[in-house]
Amino acid sequence: MDKNFYITTPIYYPSGKPHMGHAYSGIVSDVIARFKRLDGFNVEFLTGTDEHGLKIQRAAERKGLDPKTFCDEISKTFKNLSGTLNLSNTDFIRTTEDRHIKSVQKLWKKLEEKNEIYLSKYSGWYSVSDEAFYSEEEIKEENGFKISVNSGSMVEWVEEESFFFKLSNWQNKLLKFYEENPKFILPTARRNEVLSFVKSGLKDLSVSRKSFYWGIKVPSNNEHVIYVWLDALTNYISALNYPDFDKRKYKNFWPADIHMIGKDILRFHAVYWPAFLLAADLEPPKRVYGHGWILSGEEKMSKSKGNILDPIEIVNKYGIDPLRYYLLKEVSFGNDGNISKQKLEDCINSDLANNYGNLCQRVISFAEKNCELTIPKKDNFNTEDLKLLNKISENVEALRSYIDNQELNSYTSFIVDRLFDANKYFNDQEPWKKKSDTGRLNTIVYVSLEMIRKISILLNPIMPDSSLKVLNVFNLKQNDISLDSLKNHENLIINTKIKKINILFKKIEQDD
Ligand code: MSP
Repeated sequence: MDKNFYITTPIYYPSGKPHMGHAYSGIVSDVIARFKRLDGFNVEFLTGTDEHGLKIQRAAERKGLDPKTFCDEISKTFKNLSGTLNLSNTDFIRTTEDRHIKSVQKLWKKLEEKNEIYLSKYSGWYSVSDEAFYSEEEIKEENGFKISVNSGSMVEWVEEESFFFKLSNWQNKLLKFYEENPKFILPTARRNEVLSFVKSGLKDLSVSRKSFYWGIKVPSNNEHVIYVWLDALTNYISALNYPDFDKRKYKNFWPADIHMIGKDILRFHAVYWPAFLLAADLEPPKRVYGHGWILSGEEKMSKSKGNILDPIEIVNKYGIDPLRYYLLKEVSFGNDGNISKQKLEDCINSDLANNYGNLCQRVISFAEKNCELTIPKKDNFNTEDLKLLNKISENVEALRSYIDNQELNSYTSFIVDRLFDANKYFNDQEPWKKKSDTGRLNTIVYVSLEMIRKISILLNPIMPDSSLKVLNVFNLKQNDISLDSLKNHENLIINTKIKKINILFKKIEQDD
């Protein structure tokens, strides 16, 4: 079996400070990357910044800086954000790096060689904010301004010489590709949107601009810069050293297993990108997942709306693990979701402090008082014990399938259910009443500790720090922290010392 796995986030426009929406794409990708590592995969996880185009050029001009200096600064903020969010990315690409520029120009030449690109004239609507061309049907007038129906961003009229990509040639081939790969676009509702867009007819796509300079030059005509989306999408292969096919990275990791993106940029990833790749004789990625938006109130967070919830502020106040957990548990994955401080605090109190934190605290303190803080020697498991333990060991395949199909809520609910089971088991078994039956008392403690081990492994992709704090109590070796180890009920070695545990999540006092 191929044990390589490649996952990417969108590369972010460094035109302003990162917000919760950016953090969300990174966190959900990280959860998947970490799960695959627990399952023994060699994971390449890419994120980065998308630094060319008119939007960035104008943002830099507003600050009186040249675009490169401007990007150097803000790109750093995004790089630091990966650290703050505890992302386990293996690479961070900037589209202003040489390795990327070379790849984009190679891809362009390949498309030219294949006769997929021609020079003509573009006249139509362009949104700088979305860096997208829109047809008449895709725009409307509001307060005297023309705006995009979909994104609400302002469009401007553009008329200039431009290179075109023969996208119209790819309509039927794309439809065939979607049919043969029914899970290429998820969730299904989004797939249907893309299908109807492609079925309604594809026009050739303008892939160069002449009226500004901040971009990668067209190799054969340096009056033109390459359209920022053709440039940006190529990051997924430039980070693998395209076109050096023989180098390990490209061989091992392309086609990508999943491009995780927000729903607003689905068309670029699910239509243009596979068309560019197929036209260049390259394989399209295996999956494009368009997640929903994180809303602040009922609106998408954006700089122009001034309703940005700063992820760094939230992390400083509540810690990163609670934020990661909240986004996984409370946002219905694939749909839009809400975040507010109130909801986050409720979640910390009920799920983290009262449920996970409480289980760990209670069982370990009990073991301290009654089993000298060691893994106790147990009797055989009875049916109640096995019923509890088997619910995890017998569902390892289901858990894999949740992650492989990006059913992140099913994965999280599975863990929450096991936490309830384990707390209930400890209550129902009443080990404090079994002081005269040490064998049974020890077995209940062993089973409860084993549940804590299993649940902490499952929580590890979501809350890497807190779950590791718990796993460290058992002095486990790195190799023992694996998905396969969930099948085994006797991973904890009898008589090993366990460590005391500090409070994992402090309950937050709330005003009524
Ligand atoms: N640079 C392009 C992506 C190029 S990928 C080859 C871009 N950048 S972006 O910074 O505007 O957005 C990056 C990602 O953040 C997108 O997936 C977008 O959907 C996501 N989000 C931006 N705001 C969001 C929310 N409020 N909620 C969730 N995600 C949203 O687009």
